Amino acid sequence: MNNNMNAIELRNIETIYEGERIPVIHDVNLTVKVGEFLAIIGPNGAGKTTLLETINGLLPYTDGQGFVFEKEIAISKTAIRKEIGYVIQNFELDPLAPFLCKDVVMSGRSGKIGLFRFPFKKDWEIVWHSMGLVGMIDFANRPIGKLSGGEFQKILLARALAQKPKLLLLDEPFSNLDLSARRQIETLLNRLHGQRKITIVIVSHDLSFIPSRCSRVIILDKGRIVMDGEKEKILTSSIIDTIFHEKRGGE
Ligand SMILES: Nc1ncnc2c1ncn2[C@@H]1O[C@H](COP(=O)(O)OP(=O)(O)O)[C@@H](O)[C@H]1O
Ligand SMILES: [Mg+2]
Repeated sequence: MNNNMNAIELRNIETIYEGERIPVIHDVNLTVKVGEFLAIIGPNGAGKTTLLETINGLLPYTDGQGFVFEKEIAISKTAIRKEIGYVIQNFELDPLAPFLCKDVVMSGRSGKIGLFRFPFKKDWEIVWHSMGLVGMIDFANRPIGKLSGGEFQKILLARALAQKPKLLLLDEPFSNLDLSARRQIETLLNRLHGQRKITIVIVSHDLSFIPSRCSRVIILDKGRIVMDGEKEKILTSSIIDTIFHEKRGGE
């Protein structure tokens, strides 16, 4: 793919929830090049999830224009979603859900194979490959409800990868994980970015876990982008303390 292509381009985007009057996203302008790895950080309620859902075409924008791989989001929602692997925040799971891990990962392919046809051998190969990438092959036949937080997060990532996405959107991928699981996911994201040249956008309210290959940080506050730049510059800027109202430990 052309590396000068934009993976995401948002121009003066505004998003208002149905039935509400006040926009949650205000006048957002954002250009992400193919192959970038960036983090969008901001306190709870800043609009991070809303922004990801706007990019994904799950929520319609009420003003401006948005493009993913140069296709306009409002017009090509279905086509766009096929290119995006989306890992949602706080995925709720019934511990008694009767699905096996391999079936959950296969469900990531439903956009590609259609809901009403059975997977082909090639689809299963992609599922095994994705589970291998996240180191979860041995869990293929385990019930999904029996996993730890870190294992479950890896399966959700494998599910997104089974879609063979060009763009990964990860909403709070490190929340509810212990330190060792966080490190594993971080290593995995670094590797995916390094080897597969996937464009990755992670969203986090936590400043302390930004993967090392992520080079650009955007700060979102009250639905607006207040800073956008190189990770080192942003993380050492004084605006961070004002926005996060908290002391940064260990830096
Ligand atoms: N379905 C909804 N309807 C109305 N307001 C919503 C809805 N979902 C979220 N909001 C509001 O939008 C704002 C941003 O929420 P969200 O995007 O979830 O923030 P973040 O992910 O940064 O924590 C919050 O004020 C939240 O209450
Ligand atoms: Mg959120």
